[in-house]
Amino acid sequence: RRVLSVASECAPLLKTGGLADVVGALPAALAPLGWRSRILMPAYRGLLEQVGRSRRVWRDDDLFGGPAAVRSASYRGLDLLLLDAPHLFDRPGGPYTVDGHDHPDNHVRFAALSWVGARIAMHGTVDRWRPDLVHAHDWQAGLVPSYLAYAGSEVPTLLTIHNIAFQGVFGPDQLDRLRLPTWDFHPEALEYHGLVSTLKAGMVHASRVTTVSPTYAEELATPEFGFGLEGVVASRRDRGEMVGILNGIDTSVWDPATDPHVVPFSASAPGAKAENRRALLAEFGLDEPNGPLAVVVTRLTHQKGVDLLLEALPAFVEAGGAVVVLGSGDAGYEYGLGELAARYPRSVGLRLGYDEPLSHRMYAGGDLVLVPSRFEPCGLTQLYGLRYGALPVVASTGGLRDTVADATPERLADGSATGFAFGDPTQGGAIDAGGLGFALGRAVDLYADRDAWLRLRARAMRAPVDWSTSATRYAELFAELVR
Ligand code: ADP
Ligand code: GLC
Repeated sequence: RRVLSVASECAPLLKTGGLADVVGALPAALAPLGWRSRILMPAYRGLLEQVGRSRRVWRDDDLFGGPAAVRSASYRGLDLLLLDAPHLFDRPGGPYTVDGHDHPDNHVRFAALSWVGARIAMHGTVDRWRPDLVHAHDWQAGLVPSYLAYAGSEVPTLLTIHNIAFQGVFGPDQLDRLRLPTWDFHPEALEYHGLVSTLKAGMVHASRVTTVSPTYAEELATPEFGFGLEGVVASRRDRGEMVGILNGIDTSVWDPATDPHVVPFSASAPGAKAENRRALLAEFGLDEPNGPLAVVVTRLTHQKGVDLLLEALPAFVEAGGAVVVLGSGDAGYEYGLGELAARYPRSVGLRLGYDEPLSHRMYAGGDLVLVPSRFEPCGLTQLYGLRYGALPVVASTGGLRDTVADATPERLADGSATGFAFGDPTQGGAIDAGGLGFALGRAVDLYADRDAWLRLRARAMRAPVDWSTSATRYAELFAELVR
């Protein structure tokens, strides 16, 4: 069976966040279950050079304003289809922004990606290869199901929502330009409060919808988390057409025993974890702390609760902890973290920017990984933390709630704890700096009990975080759709 995956990023070729990790990991996880994947993504500037040899398999003289081609290439075991449309993708900046601002024509760029995905699926235009199913990811591929629907195609589609906060919104005056029918501009289809949303369009037209954790799937049906799309979520969920499937991690890349960026260790031989810790402290010029060394690897945004960190970290440091932060994003948070590092130069390390190898060294060297997100569809950094023995301290929301078992006395006793959680709304908790501070305090206390700490860490490192279970769920869903 064949699946065409359509996405705006894919690791290790191009990554800005967890979406890339998931898109890049699914093919290998699905292959043993009988699904062969090809991934369609934009050929952003430099990518064709990066993949090396590629072959043109499709062309169009006018893809929304310029000539375009699809080039097939294989890269580190991935079967890629790169959409080479220079007028849309060969430009400076990142995939979505340049100099901190969205590319003004993002709706056109990703509509083009979706259009091509739909053409490939309908006509087998590429190598006469025709997928049995299309798997569209997030708003950037949200129009694939719509283009297929408007063309009367029966190719089944699955839309996965990785983050409902990003919706691909633009004005209805653009409908014609994007080859979308103005007659379907109403709230049951393309319209979203007077505008068009490609994510909503996908949620309406896809055969099925998934999101990346069971808890987030439930949260999405509420106004607090649904960002205005809770109604669409609820209606598809009530018909049994939307579920949450938890992300896994690619353990061929993320395994401390084989990771080329770290001194190897494992749950059964964790000795060298200490060496990674020493190296990380040295790299940032920090003193050996009495308490735990925490790491943070994140986009610096409101979603990720960076302001909670700024508020809670001074007390953590005063209690003997140390912190290393790697991230980039909002200027205010970058500034605040800079101030914190200046205030505690021997206990707080900061690297602004994006650095994949450093992120590996941080999970390997850290005792804790901090993820105080306000909402978190799944979250991968807590999973890397589990695997690398950096115990997660998480807000109890979305996938964080589904993947980390709080170290309550009962769970410590029965051996099921894997980290620290705070702010569980079902327990009346709130995701705020006080909650985070309290969780950090519990981590500091437990760290002082060496044996208890090592038992908890060994348990966390053995938590099942790979793709096996979830890949099976995707494969079952795929099978249902092509039947
Ligand atoms: P999101 O996709 O919302 O940003 P996830 O936790 O799902 O959150 O995934 C984030 C991914 O991006 C992880 O693989 C994490 O290690 C990586 N990452 C985030 N920020 C950085 C950074 N500054 N440098 C390197 N890797 C980063
Ligand atoms: C999004 C979410 C994150 C999730 C990732 C991969 O970026 O913010 O929680 O892990 O997608 O699904």
